[in-house]
Amino acid sequence: MLKLALVQALAGSALAGTILWDGRFNEFSSSTDLNNWSWSNQVGPYQYYIHGSGPVTQYVNLSPSYKNPADTVSNQGVKISIDKTAYWNGQNMRRTELIPQTSAAINSGHVYYHFSVKRTSTNAPRSDLEHQVNFFESHFTELKYGLLSGASGTSDPTLKWCVSGQTKWSVTFDPDVWHNVAYDINFSSQTVAFWHSTGSDPLVQTAGPFSVGTSSNGADWHLGVLRLPMNSDLNSADVEDWYFSGVYIESGSLNTQIGSGGTQTTTSTTTTTSPTTSRTTTTSSRTTTTSSRTTTTSSRTTTTSSRTTTTSSRTTTTTTTTTTSTTTSGGALQSQWGQCGGIGWTGPTACAPPASCSALNPYYSQCL
Ligand SMILES: *[C@@H]1O[C@H](CO)[C@@H](O)[C@H](O)[C@H]1NC(C)=O
Ligand SMILES: *[C@@H]1O[C@H](CO)[C@@H](O)[C@H](O)[C@H]1NC(C)=O
Repeated sequence: MLKLALVQALAGSALAGTILWDGRFNEFSSSTDLNNWSWSNQVGPYQYYIHGSGPVTQYVNLSPSYKNPADTVSNQGVKISIDKTAYWNGQNMRRTELIPQTSAAINSGHVYYHFSVKRTSTNAPRSDLEHQVNFFESHFTELKYGLLSGASGTSDPTLKWCVSGQTKWSVTFDPDVWHNVAYDINFSSQTVAFWHSTGSDPLVQTAGPFSVGTSSNGADWHLGVLRLPMNSDLNSADVEDWYFSGVYIESGSLNTQIGSGGTQTTTSTTTTTSPTTSRTTTTSSRTTTTSSRTTTTSSRTTTTSSRTTTTSSRTTTTTTTTTTSTTTSGGALQSQWGQCGGIGWTGPTACAPPASCSALNPYYSQCL
């Protein structure tokens, strides 16, 4: 009897993940609680500093109506908005992003980054511009939406899962459909995979695993959206709303159920399915991406080089920003994630060990 109970307990713990960090906003009375956080007072589940000059309610709002209704663990979801004021730190990309505030080991071992994402027909994201959605600084796993920078055509209505800029899976981003996602990241084996479902369906692995440099300092996953600029259109009056809910990071076994994060046991039957149709989509979208990568346009220069400021100021705001603007090439060492080269770059070109400078494209090299 005791033995049976033990076996059941072990089976239960093996199937239910452990929540390392919870970003479901259940303890928030409103988005203004994000203002509790500052560089000198790093409290709450989120760092909030990548946004435009307006008040927090111009960019981030919470409501029960903003969550996936299938998610009964979350009290509310978040609406993240970008408008013509959403330029951060002198950049020309519209950005509203939240970053997990935690010392938990969200950047080691085998972990799963969970969230659901939706758009509506109101303030719909523009399909003619590239968006980076819920991304890591080094872009080893992320969603993208819209026409990728350098791609041919005039618009692209798909939501894409990308690994180091290459599309591995995509789906049409229809309005009012909740897409449930888990980024499957094994920091030990340096592999990533992608799990997806819609509505209340359990997550299914739809792509991966792929080998990639899974580098993260544990404070560089951005919940939210970065829209690359169309330089002639910086003052466009359009507003975009993005909806997210069920945000948490889990270790151990993947919880494939929507809305019962880490608390219930799941059967392994749902977790091993890999539909053939998704595989087909994967292959064709990969081809598209490869060609778009080789035809990068020059408008990307401003974009990528200004992204450096983002990266470096993230870790050590004051220090790194000062270093970047005062040193010349060959001077100080760039810190991990910072820019270290590319056309037009005049900052440091050497990286502080153990990072080394890696060229991601002609316009951007990064300390990885
Ligand atoms: C933010 O601070 C207020 C005032 O101290 C507190 O009541 C609230 O719970 C805090 N919010 C979060 C999410 O911690
Ligand atoms: C993650 O990677 C480690 C190291 O390669 C491996 O031992 C482990 O089995 C992987 N985990 C899973 C669940 O694949």
